[in-house]
Amino acid sequence: MGFDKCTKDELIKEINRLNKKVNKLEASAIPRLQKQKFQKSPNTRKQNNIKESLRKISHALGERGKELSCLYSISNILNESIPPEKAFHKILKVIIQSYQYPEITAARLLMNESEYKTNKFEKTKWVQSCSIYANKKKIGELEVVYLEKRPDAFEGPFLKEERHLINSIAQLLTQFVVRKQTELELQESREQLKNFAAHLQTIREEERVYISRELHDNLGQSLTALKIDLFRILKKLSDEKENSNLNYVIDQTQEMVHLVDSIIQSVRTIARELRPRVLDDLGLLSAVEWQIKEFVKRSGIKCQLISSLNNIDINKVHSIGIFRIIQESLTNVIRHSDATNVIIKIYEKTDKTLIEIEDNGCGIKQSDIFSSKSLGLLGMRERALIFGGDFIIKGTEGKGTKILLTIPKI
Ligand SMILES: Nc1ncnc2c1ncn2[C@@H]1O[C@H](COP(=O)(O)OP(=O)(O)O)[C@@H](O)[C@H]1O
Ligand SMILES: [Mg+2]
Repeated sequence: MGFDKCTKDELIKEINRLNKKVNKLEASAIPRLQKQKFQKSPNTRKQNNIKESLRKISHALGERGKELSCLYSISNILNESIPPEKAFHKILKVIIQSYQYPEITAARLLMNESEYKTNKFEKTKWVQSCSIYANKKKIGELEVVYLEKRPDAFEGPFLKEERHLINSIAQLLTQFVVRKQTELELQESREQLKNFAAHLQTIREEERVYISRELHDNLGQSLTALKIDLFRILKKLSDEKENSNLNYVIDQTQEMVHLVDSIIQSVRTIARELRPRVLDDLGLLSAVEWQIKEFVKRSGIKCQLISSLNNIDINKVHSIGIFRIIQESLTNVIRHSDATNVIIKIYEKTDKTLIEIEDNGCGIKQSDIFSSKSLGLLGMRERALIFGGDFIIKGTEGKGTKILLTIPKI
């Protein structure tokens, strides 16, 4: 019987059958052997035949074991976090070890127009191959060759089990390639989203700078000119003061001067809020100090800045993002927290800058943290993502909310 072509189950059945036979023969042979001593009997011949069969079965079982461990190793390699090219080379080495004649086996994998092969690979007439498909499209081919002739088996010199094996390996490779492709697409779209978000933020900031300048420079200057004109008129009118009919016009003009004054103030505030010049001129730490003063003025909530740094060593584009996160956090404190105290800490830890903003208010609810309606929080996360940072917000009911922003140093 040619055991090489048997499956594992068939082999185990055969082993059990033969083992029973050996036991039976041994039981009957012992008393007779004692009589006949070293004389060769037909039973001894039978026993030798069975032993030879057992040897063949063990060999075949060994082959099946090799195939199984080959599949196991390949699935492990495919789960390792190594580049696909490296994984493919490792897999080819494992494959040749699992074939019947490893010393004359070579293998090649053609995948997405790249070729990977073992050292001695060359085209021979003893080849077993399997195509690799992804999304119904052929993307590769796995080939195993014998470099020398070997006896015929199921498929040329190859075993039936080896056909199953190569098919299973091709299937594993297909799953791997599809998974990698999906991962790549996901990473690409993530990258695109990140770039898009960064682009949007840049445009927003540019617009803010533009509007802030227009307000401050153009509108501010025009208003100042208007105020000067009004002063002139007022002076002229005051010179004609004997004419009591003009008193009303003088009062009205005076009011207009006050009005223009308060418009100038508002324009300045709006321009500053839109884009604090201190951020561009003096850097992030000064801008945060300025923002805190504004916050206390507006809300009456106490706010303390604890920082061991002279200035925060962060590039300009990122510092705008960080400033906006702090600004939005403080606005949230005013709008949602009922807090009476805020502490902002800025410090460094090895290669990171950390910013903590902690209030003693009602505490953000867990459901608000990841709600799709929390657009302010979403914007903060997005900004943190742009500079490769991390944004965490935690709330404890009745105790307060804490934001932790981690910024990697460049
Ligand atoms: N400091 C805070 N204390 C308590 N609740 C907060 C705080 N910050 C945010 N929240 C809650 O999280 C929600 C989402 O915040 P945000 O995304 O900034 O949206 P918005 O401020 O427009 O409501 C808020 O509506 C509020 O319920
Ligand atoms: Mg908000």
